Formats: sequence, C-alpha cells, structure tokens
Amino acid sequence: MKPTRRKFLLGASALALSPVLPRLSLASMDEGTLELTAAPHQLSLVGDGGPLSDLWTYNQGLPGPKIRVRKGERVRVHFNNQLEEPTSVHWHGIRIENAMDGVAGLTQAPVMPGESFAYDFVAPDAGTYWYHAHNRSWNQVARGLYGPLIVEEHEPAFDSEHDLTLMIDDWRLVGEGTFDVASLGQLMDWSHAGRLGNYISVNGKLAQTLDLTRGEAYRLRLINAANARVFEFDPNRFGAKIIGYDGQNLSEPTTLNYAPLLLGPAQRVDLLVVPDEDFALEAFVNDQAYPITRFTVSGEAPSQLPNPPIIASSLPEPDLPTARRVRVEMEGGAMGGRVDMTFQGQPVTRQVMQDYGQLWSFNGVANLTDEPMFSASLGETIVIETVNNTRWVHAMHVHGHHFRVLSRSGAEVNDGQPWRDTFLIGAQQTTEIAFVADNPGRWLYHCHMLEHAAAGMNSWFQVG
Ligand code: C2O
Ligand code: CU
Repeated sequence: MKPTRRKFLLGASALALSPVLPRLSLASMDEGTLELTAAPHQLSLVGDGGPLSDLWTYNQGLPGPKIRVRKGERVRVHFNNQLEEPTSVHWHGIRIENAMDGVAGLTQAPVMPGESFAYDFVAPDAGTYWYHAHNRSWNQVARGLYGPLIVEEHEPAFDSEHDLTLMIDDWRLVGEGTFDVASLGQLMDWSHAGRLGNYISVNGKLAQTLDLTRGEAYRLRLINAANARVFEFDPNRFGAKIIGYDGQNLSEPTTLNYAPLLLGPAQRVDLLVVPDEDFALEAFVNDQAYPITRFTVSGEAPSQLPNPPIIASSLPEPDLPTARRVRVEMEGGAMGGRVDMTFQGQPVTRQVMQDYGQLWSFNGVANLTDEPMFSASLGETIVIETVNNTRWVHAMHVHGHHFRVLSRSGAEVNDGQPWRDTFLIGAQQTTEIAFVADNPGRWLYHCHMLEHAAAGMNSWFQVG
C-alpha cells in the first residue's frame, strides 16, 4: 500500500489543536532496577477518544518508559514477558557487553511468555539510543515494542526542559484509524521496501505542539523507530545544527551543507536549535512536507546566544593499513532477478521462499548460520565493503560497535565521516565502513528494515 496523502493529512491537520508538552514517563536508574513489562495494550493512535488499536507495549506506554542514565552508569532492567510469544530486548547502539545485547537465538535464549530476564549493563557513551524487541522484530517492533534510552554526559549541557526526545514511527492504519494487524508479515512487504505506514506518530501521538523559549538552546533527539521508512528532514529550515548521529557527538555542532537529511530505520540525529520564531519539524514524503511536530516560540530574546558545550565522542580509530577486509554482496528481493541462495544449509527453492519467507541474502546465504560470516581477532580493524546488488535501499546495522563510512560509490562522503551504528545504502551502491572490533562476542550485521532482516538480510560475526 502506498502512503496516501489523506491519511498523512489526517495527522497533520489536527496538530494545531494540541498545545501539550509531551511528557514521556521517566525512568531513572537511581532507585535501582526498572521493571519493564512487554504486554498487549490498547491505545488510540489518532488522538484522545479515537478508536483503540491492538498494540504491544512496554509498561503500557508508547513509546516505552524513557530510560535516562549518565555516561558510565549501569542500566538495570528486570524484564517481564507477558506477550503470547517469545521476545528479548535489544539496547540499540550501546557498545554493550555481548551477553546483554538481547539478540534472541544468538546472545541469549528468547524470553518465553510468562518468564523474565535481568538486563544489567554499563552505558559507556553519552548520546541518543533506544531499545526494542529483538525477536520477530518485524512483528513486535511494528506493534509498539520500543522506547528511548538516553545517556547523558557527566554534566549535562541541557536540562530536561531543553532536552527533548522525538521518537518517530509510521503506522499502517485501516478503517477509522486502527493499527492494521492483518497485514503483518505480508510477503509483498518483505520482498519490497518493507512495511510502510500511512500515518506518522511522534512519541506515540499524532503530531503535537511544543512550547519553546526564544533564544534558548534546545537539544532535539530524533529517533526513527519505523520498521522500514526512511524519513527526510531539512534542519536548515529552522536553523538547526547537528550535534551528533546514532548516539555519538560530533566535535562541534555543525550546519548541514546538503538536504535532505535522511534518517533511516534505527538511525538517530541530535539537533541543536536556538529558536527565534515558530517553526515545524517537517517530514518530506513524496516531495510533500508533513509537519510532524510544531514548535511555538515565546519570550524575549537574550542578548547573548547560548553556546552549550558539546563533548565529542572518542572511539578507537580504525587502523586502515592493517585492516581485515570483508566483502558482503546483498542480493534478492523484488526485481532482483534469479538468485541462488541457501537457507539453513539447503538451497532456497520457490517453495522454501514461500514457506519460510526467505527472499534476500548476503553472499548467497539467507539468515543466520551456525558459523559466523567472518571472525575478527580482538582489536583488529575491520573494513566491510557492502555491495548492494538489489533494487532497494537498505539500512545496515552493526551490533556492539560504531563505524565510520569510508566511501560510497556514486556519492561523495562529505560529512566528516561521523561515527554511526546504522548506514543507508542505495540500490546498486557500494559502501565501505571501518571499525575496530574491540568488543568480544557474537554480533549481528543486518538490515534494520525489519522485514528484510526476517526475510534473510541477517548475518553475524565473531570477535575474539
Ligand atoms: Cu536495532 Cu539488531 O537492532
Ligand atoms: Cu533492507
């Protein structure tokens, strides 16, 4: 289904009416352990009093509770599964201890219905992260199992009034505006661009209005929690600078010298905004602008512009001359031509495609195997050259590590090579990334378009 303007406008037209600050439920680790429960829950996605959607949420919230810790602190979560299917929780982008990475079937056994699991890890880098279900993610994340995980500096440069998280999702709604459960798992989505919605929410609500004070500095943390949609923004429209990407700060706030800014599934961008007049954060879909959050600005401008200190993240630099090089050929999907691939050691026939939904491959292999795709010794630099032989864009995510994008065929890498944990790769494009494999364990390398991952774009590597 293509996004229809009408549905997007349904979201857009109602926004001027809701001058409410989004108050995410706040979870602090100070008191020890957070109880986090995944369970079915009914919510209206189209505003108060609207029809209820059958969702799955953490602690009955959409998004789940905002977890906020300081850099270097422990995150302790006692997780309970009250769903009807096994699940696990992944802490996306955290350079985490492998046993806590939450990948069901690779780093832990799935948490069965009625059971619980204790997550306990250190958050080493200050930045914007998120957590989400990591078992049948195409189903569980689509239904609402995600939440923000914010790691603050030792001395945060922004207090909570000036530090705003916008968790952005798109939903496929039907009828009077309820979540379309019936189309989950549709092979049409799996073989094409993934499950795209027709309605955009921010922090679980249709677009809202936030009140800001003129001339003060705000940090806006944008998180793309959609299964498959690549959002397009233009921060220059409201004079915003980039503080960082994917949870890692740049060395200083930087003006983007191109547009649009693409935010792929799972990617984050932190913006520095010093508002002067009312503005909107607009998402561009098919060249049409949809204001997904409006900001009203009031107060006297101060005589001096604020200049909050940003501490650049420092990660081990790749040592390119000694790097181990790995090549990953992506194949499959609609219009991809005939592809020879295996799934669990067997050739993928048309029947296997239909029965198991295996439609994409890395180096001819669909989904996880017993053996890693490659192994790295601890501390070794890895360069992954990913070749996208498909007709589709993908959002490739490395678990447990951040990388720099070294090169992109057909496009300049003119962004100063920021650290990232997820990169977009266009159809027929080749991209090289580099990172130091300094985190021992078993780590996924997969497409974060969750239908693509389920349908085969999923692999793992071993460190140490
Ligand atoms: Cu955000 Cu493997 O996931
Ligand atoms: Cu993909």
